[in-house]
Amino acid sequence: SYYNAFILDNRYLAYLDGLKITLLISFFAIILGSLIGIIVAIAKVTAQKSKGKNWFTIVCIKLVNTICNGYINIIRGTPVMVQLLIIYNLIFTSRNTNEIVVGAICFGINSGAYVAEIVRAGIESIDKGQNEAGRSLGLNNIQTMLYIILPQAIKNILPALGNEFIVLVKETSVAGVIAVTDLTKAAQYIGSRTYQPLPPLIITAVFYLIIVLGLTKFLGIFERRMRQGDKH
Ligand code: ARG
Repeated sequence: SYYNAFILDNRYLAYLDGLKITLLISFFAIILGSLIGIIVAIAKVTAQKSKGKNWFTIVCIKLVNTICNGYINIIRGTPVMVQLLIIYNLIFTSRNTNEIVVGAICFGINSGAYVAEIVRAGIESIDKGQNEAGRSLGLNNIQTMLYIILPQAIKNILPALGNEFIVLVKETSVAGVIAVTDLTKAAQYIGSRTYQPLPPLIITAVFYLIIVLGLTKFLGIFERRMRQGDKH
């Protein structure tokens, strides 16, 4: 490992490895978080109309709502670092558990709660008349959601979602508590070996900045594409 005797020769590899781990955790957490968030948001939005349903459907709706709200409240109500440590100690029963996988799962589950609220708010920002219009055109509930509601909601969802991805990337800097050598942890190691903590930290900050600016640029392009459909 780079963290043994010859850290001074290999510190560039240590940075690159840390960067790779930060990017991997962020990437898979964004995918997982988006999936969870979209599913939870659609479940919540769907489970809102209980009027005129039979008792079994109403019980199911209540159950789905309780589970979704419980998930969102617990995840948003506790620090991600504590969640990380809990999941680590839950899953890390055997020595061969991969810390990167644990990190990606934890940050994914964490981000899912925020994404769920972003997507739900975006869907609810669309006028109810749009749903009625779709339904009266003969589309079913799922088709209306896919072809009428979501294409409009996405314009409200994207900016907030971009913000969430940025927060998520930076939030992975606490992953070091579960013995994964991400970018931040690598910087700490290098600093402790060279007795100069500041330079690696500055370099690390610049790395995060580049990642976030890249992400901002990418999301900006995406948002502009989405808005093009508005200008007739
Ligand atoms: N640092 C805060 C916490 O520990 C905020 C986490 C926010 N995470 C997110 N994916 N938006 O809970």
